[in-house]
Amino acid sequence: MDFSNPAQRRIFFEIHAGLPRQSAGSDGSTLRALSLVADRLPPAPEIADMACGPGAAAVLLAEALPEANVCALDLHQPFLDELIARAEKARLLDRITPQCADMVTPLAEMGPLDMIWCEGGIYNIGVEAGLRAWKPMLRAGGLVVFNEPVWLVAETDRAPEVRAFWGGYAGMTDVQGVERAIKAAGYSLLGGFDLPEADWWATYYDPMRERLDRLADTYDDDTNAQAPMAHTRAEIDMRERYAAAYNYRFFAVQLT
Ligand SMILES: C[S@@+](CC[C@H](N)C(=O)[O-])C[C@H]1O[C@@H](n2cnc3c(N)ncnc32)[C@H](O)[C@@H]1O
Repeated sequence: MDFSNPAQRRIFFEIHAGLPRQSAGSDGSTLRALSLVADRLPPAPEIADMACGPGAAAVLLAEALPEANVCALDLHQPFLDELIARAEKARLLDRITPQCADMVTPLAEMGPLDMIWCEGGIYNIGVEAGLRAWKPMLRAGGLVVFNEPVWLVAETDRAPEVRAFWGGYAGMTDVQGVERAIKAAGYSLLGGFDLPEADWWATYYDPMRERLDRLADTYDDDTNAQAPMAHTRAEIDMRERYAAAYNYRFFAVQLT
């Protein structure tokens, strides 16, 4: 698909709008990741959820940590509008502050952070670059919890279509590669885990596939719709066939 084509981009966002999450994940995994760092957080932590998308994690963190303030930051305002609706419904807008901004640029109104959260987002800037960019935003000993796609098999065992799909992300590496980037950026690893397979489906690919089925009738004759829809179906099919080759993994790290 051609992301620079406005018509195709519009269809891409129509496929994605309103999904529970914009990346593989689940409430269970978010809470499991939080448990890796919870005992290192102060009672009223200042948190930023970088690339928060529609805000599943931001809302869950604010619920799980009743005195936390969460700055929920993303570049795409329509996702932030979804976050605002969720936070309003959960009566949490007094502790969740939406910000339409780039996650590499510190915001003047953001105080020193106790923790930066980032699900399915740091790949946009790369792990090492992202961790380095966030250092000035964190207090001493600050925490970062993020997840990142990693290869689970050697290069020679990656099927061409999987390589082609993730080829767009030149920085994609394996678990050891991410751990090296963490160390190089000046953090120590506290723990991590791979997402369970269900995290790819229940709140992400299953609803996305339903959306595609619905849009197929609407855009039957629309040539611009075919590329983004085919691209998305191929991504879902790839997960069905090659789950053993790649996965998202959570990493919990601390400034050293
Ligand atoms: C794969 S989605 C994940 C969204 C969300 N964390 C979730 O799990 O549902 C990636 C998000 O990164 C956002 N994004 C991409 N580059 C960004 C940047 N430089 N600064 C802030 N957000 C960015 C996109 O708008 C999108 O919402």
